[in-house]
Amino acid sequence: MPLPELLKSFEPHFLLSDEKLRDVVTHFRKEMEGGLSEYGKDVAMVPSFVTGVPDGSEEGTFLALDLGGTNLRVCEVRLFGEHKFEIKQQKYKVSDELKEGQARVLFDYIADSVDAFLTDIGSDISSNEPMHLGFTFSFPVEQTAIDAGKLLTWTKGFNAKNAIGHDVVKLLQDAFDKKHIHVRCSALVNDTVGTLLSRSYQSGPALIGAIFGTGTNGAYIDKTRTVTKLGEDKISEAEKGGEHAGEFMVVNTEWGAFDNGRHCLPISAFDNKLDRESINPRKQAFEKLVSGMYLGEIVRNILLHLIDSSVLFDGYSSDVLNTHYGFDAAFVSGIEGCKTSDEVKQLIIKVLGVNTKYITEGCTEVVQWACRVVAERACKLAGCAIAAVILHTGNDKVPEGEEDKGVDVGIDGSVAEFLPRFFDRVEEALVVVLGKEGSSRVKMGLAKDGSGVGAALTALQAKKAMDQRP
Ligand code: GLC
Repeated sequence: MPLPELLKSFEPHFLLSDEKLRDVVTHFRKEMEGGLSEYGKDVAMVPSFVTGVPDGSEEGTFLALDLGGTNLRVCEVRLFGEHKFEIKQQKYKVSDELKEGQARVLFDYIADSVDAFLTDIGSDISSNEPMHLGFTFSFPVEQTAIDAGKLLTWTKGFNAKNAIGHDVVKLLQDAFDKKHIHVRCSALVNDTVGTLLSRSYQSGPALIGAIFGTGTNGAYIDKTRTVTKLGEDKISEAEKGGEHAGEFMVVNTEWGAFDNGRHCLPISAFDNKLDRESINPRKQAFEKLVSGMYLGEIVRNILLHLIDSSVLFDGYSSDVLNTHYGFDAAFVSGIEGCKTSDEVKQLIIKVLGVNTKYITEGCTEVVQWACRVVAERACKLAGCAIAAVILHTGNDKVPEGEEDKGVDVGIDGSVAEFLPRFFDRVEEALVVVLGKEGSSRVKMGLAKDGSGVGAALTALQAKKAMDQRP
């Protein structure tokens, strides 16, 4: 098949029609509703037990721990009120051995990192009270309280043994206690929940916190009563607990697992290869099309196919191209940001290690095409997820009798931050699904450091609740 036709034949899986976007959103809403009413669904719709969002006046100093992105981060967060904060932080590498070894060893390493942080960078707070720590643990957890939750499954390349089904707060607290580290893990938070709280603290009430980074996921505010699977007793208890009568609760959707059943996502042969070779086949279907951990790998699969079809690089590959996860989403962002074909060529040489003599005429356009279609699909699908939540909460229209305050969405993650035109492309999908008027109400913005500030804010909420207990 001549090259232009060959490329065209792949496009339906990547350049999504308006109809496809609407179809994805319809399915998305159904899976969200399913997860709210029943446990055990792919889109888990995890109640966070965070009731009410901060208003920017909160004060205090807390520790925050962030596991689930590229590194382990330990932070000391000072909330000054008036929407202001300061973070001291240190990153610690989590090796593949730790990610895939025994959970106990991983949690011991985490505790040691907190200890090292307190010693090296550490806090000047001296008190007999243990320091309160908010634990941002960005994996699917069935949360049963603000400081308890069992790991449902690992995602994003983690696969530590003897963790699934265990309470991760207990695993962490046991590791602290064993080492006599004077820290109390008082809150368990997903990074999306943290992003939502941090955005609200900094720039006023937000509806959604979303991550488009190594993984993807979103949290939003729903009526506690809508989480029907909690049952009447837990709902009433939560309603009593919140600062605003607990009428609302932050729900962590775990939308990365949307459409694991493959009813509507545009899954191509390149995606199937990625899935089959991953450590979690048939899981995180949506995440595997959208998030940073996978974008490079999808492009690699496409390029290899074109090389094997002898229509790219004269049929010659390179070591990097032959290596599983040989390059990551930064390459896709880099190519998308190139202004000239020479810049593309230089990046192909530098990152992919392809020999210059094989980069013949037209190769740079083909690589650009592959990066563009993969990026385009990721952004449009990201837009579908946001649109589905907005429709689910009825926020596509101004609530009756209320003034139009708009809908605020706080977003964090490397894909959102570094992929050129991410926000424009998401916005295009919002216009398709919500219409011009509906989409014009939506205000999206980067909300960096959600996992640090958000964890501190949740630890504060948990501490307040603890202090109030008789
Ligand atoms: C994965 C995790 C989820 C997290 C997201 C973003 O999807 O399962 O909990 O929020 O990555 O980090």
